[in-house]
Amino acid sequence: MTAQLIDGNALSKTLRAEVATRAAALKARGVVPGLAVVLVGENPASQVYVRNKVKACEDSGLHSVLEKYPADLSEADLLARVEALNNDPAIHGILVQLPLPAHIDAQKVIEAIAPAKDVDGFHVASAGALMTGSPGFWPCTPYGCMKMLESIGYELRGKHAVVIGRSNIVGKPMALMLLAKSATVTICHSATADLGAMTRQADVVVAAVGKRNVLTADMVKPGAVVIDVGMNRNDEGKLCGDVDFAGVREVAGWITPVPGGVGPMTITMLLVNTIEAAERTAAASAT
Ligand code: GUN
Repeated sequence: MTAQLIDGNALSKTLRAEVATRAAALKARGVVPGLAVVLVGENPASQVYVRNKVKACEDSGLHSVLEKYPADLSEADLLARVEALNNDPAIHGILVQLPLPAHIDAQKVIEAIAPAKDVDGFHVASAGALMTGSPGFWPCTPYGCMKMLESIGYELRGKHAVVIGRSNIVGKPMALMLLAKSATVTICHSATADLGAMTRQADVVVAAVGKRNVLTADMVKPGAVVIDVGMNRNDEGKLCGDVDFAGVREVAGWITPVPGGVGPMTITMLLVNTIEAAERTAAASAT
């Protein structure tokens, strides 16, 4: 069996077109949805990410502001910028690009963002909302994975989902989202005794470790859905995920490629969260 691909580029295109339609509707009501992206320092990967985020906003009709600061910006000054953006009515979403320089407490900065503008979904209030099933913003990468499962009409209820990785940004929120859809969820990590024994029982595997070949063909149940969140480089310098794609695609039923899988979905869901934030603000001010 060769797995069917879940195409993140195609799905992104559809979802971004919906964002553009919603942005146009808001603009007709006099509200221009706006995202502020804050970058501190010169991290080359971060520079590429923020450029892509700003470009994606432009392409979907969202207003975006890119604020760039030198690496020696003080924590107090960054907190003051976040506070100003919290109070700026033209800004509906705030994203502070991570990692931040070592002298800045990243969690403190994230907690300074108004939860109503936390389109990254990293604030403890957002995490709490996800955990309790209350309205809030979901972290973009796992939210994108859920959209990919939805796009193939996959019914999670009663299925066994195994998440490999326990980060606050992907692994833990991913597990909560799968649980909310009534999957039976196992979280595996670096101390898991026998990873293969777990993944071989899985109907869905989400690999979010940041290491190549974490999941190989012998670890996958025939027909399983495999979602690859990894972004690594192979020996030739080519982008690859956490999954041994060539091997696993011969066993799985569905698989996301790298590149062209989860990657584009992360920015897409940032746009979705931003338009949602703008719509909620517009609805609140209309009442
Ligand atoms: N750095 C890498 N990915 C992300 C992300 O999704 N959001 C933020 N704020 N920083 C990141």
